[in-house]
Amino acid sequence: MALTSMVKDDVRFERVTGTIGAVVSGVALTGGDRPETAERLRRGLHEHGVLFFEFGQAVSAPDFAAFATLFGEPEQAYKFGAADGGGGAQFIDSDVTPMKDVRINHWHADGTALERPPRAAMLTPAELPEVGGDTMWASMYAAYEALSSHDQRLLDGLEVLHSTVRVPFLNQAQTAVHPAVIRDPVTGRKMLYVNANWSERVVGMGDHESEALLQRLFAHINTPEFHVRLRWRLGVVAVWEERVTQHRGVADFTGPRKLRRITFAGDRPAA
Ligand SMILES: [Fe+2]
Repeated sequence: MALTSMVKDDVRFERVTGTIGAVVSGVALTGGDRPETAERLRRGLHEHGVLFFEFGQAVSAPDFAAFATLFGEPEQAYKFGAADGGGGAQFIDSDVTPMKDVRINHWHADGTALERPPRAAMLTPAELPEVGGDTMWASMYAAYEALSSHDQRLLDGLEVLHSTVRVPFLNQAQTAVHPAVIRDPVTGRKMLYVNANWSERVVGMGDHESEALLQRLFAHINTPEFHVRLRWRLGVVAVWEERVTQHRGVADFTGPRKLRRITFAGDRPAA
């Protein structure tokens, strides 16, 4: 009988706030055919929004790409704000794209001006500043559920135009219309689906009415009870569901900050 190196995982989730995020233990840093682990991680991703893994030492580009296969098939098409990092990953490099210049330090989900935005993304650091440059995530389940029933009813029927109008530095015209509230296909929970980088206007509203509503929602998303904040260390991998969460960087550092990123192709967000 051939000896194969079977990896036996014992996947455990430990929540890190009352609304979002879990540290995952018991998962080995390898790819490979582990359908049971993959199934548990993908479900956990939809439940917790963002998952954190701690591998103790810097994760190489090939190891990162192999680990990514547990979450699905990585895509190469999504490139906003990133450079090619080799080995199937992209680089988010603060020297090339300073956070404030590309609004990485504003709450957003990635690429919602696309008809099919990425459904998930993952990061691991390659080089970090001595201090600062954290990443934050916000739960869009929590954001929706904390709205008044009046606001929920209003938003349940609305559609929002997403575009590159608020991110003109991309030099790229792109638009898509998505529901203001979508439903997670795995958990069945509703989520708020507008964000401060890509949501341009509410369909069918006048300019002032639309902008007032959107700005109120952007401010609502900036509520600490919906958030988790990660201080990066070499060896940490963060994986998030792009619809369940929004994310932002914290632009409080000097010096290089380089992160490897992999994204996963998504479908049209649906109510
Ligand atoms: Fe992003």
